[in-house]
Amino acid sequence: MLKIVVGSPRLRSFAVVSEPPCCTGGDAWRVVEDRDGVEVYWSGRKLFSMRIATWERGVEIAHTLEGDEHVYGLGEKYAHLDRRFKRFHFWNVDQTVHLPSGDPMYKSIPFYIVAKPGKVYGVFVDYPGYLYIDTGVEHLDRIVIRVGAGYAVLYVFSGENLYEILDAYTRLTGRPFMPPKWAVGYHQSRYSYASQDEVLRVAEEFRRRRIPCDAIWLDIDYMDGYRLFTWSRDRFPDPRGMIEKLHSMNMRVVTIVDVGIKEEKGYHAYDRGVELNAFLRTPDGELFRGGVWPGLCVFPDFLRSSGRRYWAQRLAEFMGVGVDGIWLDMNEPAIFYMEKPFRSMVAEVSKRLIENDVEGAGNHYFWRARHLIGTTSVGKGIGMVDIPAVHLDDDGGEVRHSEIHNAYPLLENEATKMGFEIARPGRRWFILTRSAYAGIQRLAAVWTGDNQSDWGHMAISIPMLLNLGLSGVPFAGADVGGFGDDVDPEMLVRWTQLGAFYPFFRNHSSKGTRRQEPWVFGEPWSSYVAEAIRLRYRLLPYIYSMFIEAHRSGKPVIRPLFAEFPQDEQSYVVEDEFLVGPSLLVAPVLTPGARARAVYLPQVRWLDLWSGEVLEPGWRLVEAPIDRVPLFLREDGAVVTTEPRSSATEPWGTVTIDVFVGRKACAVLYDDDGETADFEKGRFFEAKVCIERRGGDAVIRVEELHMGYEPGFSKVRIRLLGSPWVERVLLEGEELRVYRSGKAVVAELGIGRLTASQQG
Ligand code: GLC
Repeated sequence: MLKIVVGSPRLRSFAVVSEPPCCTGGDAWRVVEDRDGVEVYWSGRKLFSMRIATWERGVEIAHTLEGDEHVYGLGEKYAHLDRRFKRFHFWNVDQTVHLPSGDPMYKSIPFYIVAKPGKVYGVFVDYPGYLYIDTGVEHLDRIVIRVGAGYAVLYVFSGENLYEILDAYTRLTGRPFMPPKWAVGYHQSRYSYASQDEVLRVAEEFRRRRIPCDAIWLDIDYMDGYRLFTWSRDRFPDPRGMIEKLHSMNMRVVTIVDVGIKEEKGYHAYDRGVELNAFLRTPDGELFRGGVWPGLCVFPDFLRSSGRRYWAQRLAEFMGVGVDGIWLDMNEPAIFYMEKPFRSMVAEVSKRLIENDVEGAGNHYFWRARHLIGTTSVGKGIGMVDIPAVHLDDDGGEVRHSEIHNAYPLLENEATKMGFEIARPGRRWFILTRSAYAGIQRLAAVWTGDNQSDWGHMAISIPMLLNLGLSGVPFAGADVGGFGDDVDPEMLVRWTQLGAFYPFFRNHSSKGTRRQEPWVFGEPWSSYVAEAIRLRYRLLPYIYSMFIEAHRSGKPVIRPLFAEFPQDEQSYVVEDEFLVGPSLLVAPVLTPGARARAVYLPQVRWLDLWSGEVLEPGWRLVEAPIDRVPLFLREDGAVVTTEPRSSATEPWGTVTIDVFVGRKACAVLYDDDGETADFEKGRFFEAKVCIERRGGDAVIRVEELHMGYEPGFSKVRIRLLGSPWVERVLLEGEELRVYRSGKAVVAELGIGRLTASQQG
């Protein structure tokens, strides 16, 4: 890693958690000054030339791009997989316009990866105020970065492959947190389930229909007048009882927690915050106020530790009734209006109207209104208005909000995690956040905000989530079925088939739209939706093992094709299919009426998991009837599955390793208690099981083994697919009894037998 500092940074970094002691990067890096700037080399190879200048608001940095290089990452952007030839703003807003022109969005992660066959590097621009990154509009062959400050801090990462870049970046900014097992299951949400009876009815319906589901989500209407940390007495008279009942059904509860605290004397969260001086102020020293759901609100100052403690305490008390997870929303922070400018705008518009200056009034309204809804953006670059608030740091120093705007939600997430530590020490936490800054992966899962029930939004969710993974944030999802507008039956089926592979899998929809639970369209649709959810639960052992891998090394759970096939030029741009882990290729159907689709299969042979057919690499047309999402297993790859249960926390019983062996394929069996942080102390089970072809023999070996935990499965089934060559299956020289099922050869054995083979 190479660190480049321009000027003198005014503030500490919020993203960086552990910086290696020496940041000039060691021997592999070479920086050579030329006339206009510097040339940066890694391992003898030139990465780029860089020039440093100024623009009207601060530092400008530009570096070269080669003609055939692609750009990825940059967090959450409504844009395609390859982010070259675009312009992006970094300023968290409540983005209601999910369109290319609706940039910026909720999250700001100024980290990107430049890649082509044989070359890959990453750049992280660590500045949490306003930033602009142009990936080839102003200059075809350059990236231009404009920082809204007179200083800049850049980290450059290089390595042999993409994963080394993500490893280094997540070492710097924090490893992805390991979620509890239930959070990897299916989540059901709605804005809003309006009463505790309704919540229980929905939960019971899942269990009655045997559709797996791990959590029910409560949106803003559970609160009393949208006051944070309260429950509506009429609609949720007994939250503890409701949650106990849900827990007895093995169902968890996640509640939304916005960030604005209603300004109201006598309301405990407000009073306590005032007492502790925990809120943001204006430059004049008054409380900073902005309108959100409950009306005028004040906002916690998460920059100082007392503000974070205030929040953590409120949250921990609130969670006391048994809440399992916290959903942080509106935390850009989103503010619908700010009181003073709003009043002056209304006065000005009224005056012009009285003077009969209709056009003037209209113009004034149009422009002022855009600036008033300071943090709700209405279009490209517009609406990125400063929030005139002031933070205090722990030494009492003042920091303008605009200097750290994008880090505000990150600090809120830190405080929220502290709340979990108070409420349930030693247990894993679960936070979902809408807004974020670089480093968020160590604290929370993310979702892409208010999309629409629209095929285009469904399709773009793939490059959006893939790029979040390439920005260090593996645990990400989009609202399955779409948030705004009305879903139709086919879209709900296809979106659930896709969502089953989102790392974060939640169905959520807005008030005023048609209901979107799996059963709303009746048969045959509800069976298709249910089957797609069950598919997720079949794949849990594989997906869960990808989460631990992400936690250890920053590897994304879902990956673009080029991550695994960097020599394959085509795989750098395909964005309507993706890999889950290294071995499973998913090609979801993204258009109505389609019952087949073109699939690009990179570089190796692939096994069609539905037909059992072996396919050569290249473009193929595959069948995709309505009840099926095309899935392919890589040659020399493996996936681990189980029978679906109602909850992800139920023991797996038997796991099946599906392998397609060319020469040798390995599967990882991983399990832990799914609840506590004990896995960090070695309490987990992990075995790397490999199957190698030797002539007509398939030879099984356990290559690595960690036995710190008794896994929730006792039987392992090994299913050899696409392998007509198999005559015998051997374990330690002994031939195992096998049977044939369709085209597969199957061997079954107890976990003890398998692991003893390695120990022995
Ligand atoms: C925001 C969130 C959405 C939520 C709604 C009501 O629009 O993005 O998910 O349902 O607020 O809380």
